[in-house]
Amino acid sequence: MSRSWLRELVAMFAVGVFASSGLTQEATNHESTPLEIFDQRIMPIFRSSQPSSCVQCHLSAVDLKNYILPSQEKTFASLRDQGLIDLQAPEKSKILTLIRMGDKDLDKGAQLIHEKTRKAEYAAFEAWVKACCQDPKIRDLPQLNPADLASPDKPEAVIRHARKSRVVDSFARNVWSQRMRCFPCHTPHEIDPSNPRQQAAIKTQNELKKKYSPELLARLNIFRETPEATLNYLVESSRNVKQGELPLLNLAEPRKSLILLKPTSKLPIKREDGTFEPVSSVAPVTHMGGLKMHPDDQSYKSFVAWIKDYSNVVGDRYVGVEELPADNWVATKRVLKLSSAPESWPIGIPVQLFVYTWNDEETSWRKEPVAFTQGTVTPRRMVNGAMFLLASRDAARATTVKGNEAVLGGGRYMVKVYVDLKHRLADDPTLLLGDEDFVGQAEFTRSRWREGFKFAAAVSGNMLKR
Ligand code: HEC
Ligand code: HEC
Repeated sequence: MSRSWLRELVAMFAVGVFASSGLTQEATNHESTPLEIFDQRIMPIFRSSQPSSCVQCHLSAVDLKNYILPSQEKTFASLRDQGLIDLQAPEKSKILTLIRMGDKDLDKGAQLIHEKTRKAEYAAFEAWVKACCQDPKIRDLPQLNPADLASPDKPEAVIRHARKSRVVDSFARNVWSQRMRCFPCHTPHEIDPSNPRQQAAIKTQNELKKKYSPELLARLNIFRETPEATLNYLVESSRNVKQGELPLLNLAEPRKSLILLKPTSKLPIKREDGTFEPVSSVAPVTHMGGLKMHPDDQSYKSFVAWIKDYSNVVGDRYVGVEELPADNWVATKRVLKLSSAPESWPIGIPVQLFVYTWNDEETSWRKEPVAFTQGTVTPRRMVNGAMFLLASRDAARATTVKGNEAVLGGGRYMVKVYVDLKHRLADDPTLLLGDEDFVGQAEFTRSRWREGFKFAAAVSGNMLKR
C-alpha cells in the first residue's frame, strides 16, 4: 500500500489511530525548556509517518511537517520570519490558527476523526511557541536566509486544488451529476414508489432483488444518498478489491476503473438455453446492465477527468499551477444537437461542440466558451449531448450546480465545432480539441434553454462556416 493511499484512508476513514502516539504526551511537572518541548513534542510530529491533522481538509500538498526543521532554532526563526509567530501575543500566532482550522470544519465527522491529533499538535506548538517567545536567545535569533525557510514546497494554487472539499465538489459535478444514466439499477435513492412514472424502474429493482444475493445487491448500490457518501464508498471499496476484479476507481490506470469499464461493456455472451455466461470484472469486462455509456461521450469524459485528477491529488503529483486541470464543468440537462453532419465526418467519430455567448457591450463574441458537449456522429448524421457549463475556475469553486444553471439566458449564441479526425481522444479522453481539429462555426439564437432532449437547441451542419 503506497503512502498516498494510506494518507487518504486516514483522511477519510481512520478513527483514533493516533491515540497511542507520543504526540499526546501530557506536559511534565517541571518547567520544560523550549528544547525539551521541541524534542519531546514537536520532533515526533516531524518524524511521524502519519499525516498531520491538516489532512482533514488537505488530501495532499501541505502538512504541518512542512513547517518543521530538525533544529529548534531554525524552526523557530523560520516560522517567525514567515509571520507565523506573534512575538507579543504568542497565543495568537498564525501557526496555531492554522492548526486550529479543523475546529471550524462543517464536516463534523471529519472534525471528530482528527480531533485528537489536532489537539495534540495544538498543545505541543502552543507550549513550545510560548516557551520560545519567553527566551530572548531564541526570540532574537538572527534572520534566516530566505532559501532556508521551511514551508510547503507547492504553490498555493496547488494546495487549494488538493483540498478535500474541492475534490468532493468536483466529484459532485463530474460523476454524481451523471448518476441518472445508471438509473434505476445503481441509484436506489432516486426511486420514488409513489411516482406512477417510475413503475418500470420499481419493477427492474424488484427483479434485481429477486435475482441477486444481498451481498451483490449491496454492490449494485453504487450511487449513495449524497456525493460524499458515494465517494467514500468508491474509495473504500477500491482499496478492498477482491482477487480477479478491477477496482471501481483505478488510481494507477484511471481508464481501467470498473466504474468506467462496466457501463462501456456489453452483456456477457448468451448461451443456447437463454442464460448468460458468468459476468466478468476483469478485462474483457462484461456488464449485466449492458452498454450504458460510450467512451466518446461527455459523461465518460467527465468521469475520466475526475478520476485522473483525484489520482493526481491523492498521489501528491501536482507540482506547478500549469499542471492543474481547469475543473470547471457543471453538468446540465440542456441538450445541444447538430443535425446534417457533413458526409466527410465518418459515423462514430467524436465531435466536440463549444458554445459562446455574445457580448453586447463589446459587440463581439466572448473569448471563453460558456458550454461544452461531446458526442459521436450517429448513422442519422446527428451529434448531440447534454451540455456542461464551463464556469470560470473561481466561479466553479464558489457556485453550486443549481446556481450555474442560471448562466444560460436567452440571446445570441455561437457554436464552434471540432471533429476528432486525427483520433487524438483515443489517447487522452479528457482532451479538449483545438484549432487543428476545428471544422466550422454557426450562429443561433435561443429565447430560453429548456431541459431535456425534446427541447434541444438545434443547429444544422449546413450552416457551419470556417
Ligand atoms: C477545516 C479545514 C482545514 C484544515 C483542517 C486546514 N486547512 Fe489549510 N486551507 C483550508 C481552506 C478552505 C483553504 C483555502 C482558502 C482559500 O481558498 O482561500 C486552505 C488553504 C491553506 C493554505 C494555502 C494558503 C491560503 O491561505 O490559501 C495553506 C498553506 C494551508 N491551508 C495550510 C494548512 C496547514 C499547515 C494545516 C494544518 C496545520 C491546514 N491548512 C489545515 C482549510 C483547512
Ligand atoms: C439496467 C440496469 C443497469 C444499469 C442502467 C446500469 N447497470 Fe451497472 N450493473 C448492473 C448489474 C445487474 C450489475 C451486476 C453484474 C455485473 O457486474 O455486471 C452491474 C454492475 C456494475 C458495476 C460493478 C459493481 C461491483 O462492485 O461489482 C459497475 C461499476 C457498474 N455496474 C457501473 C454502472 C454505471 C456507471 C452505470 C451507468 C452509467 C450502470 N452501471 C448502469 C445493471 C445496470
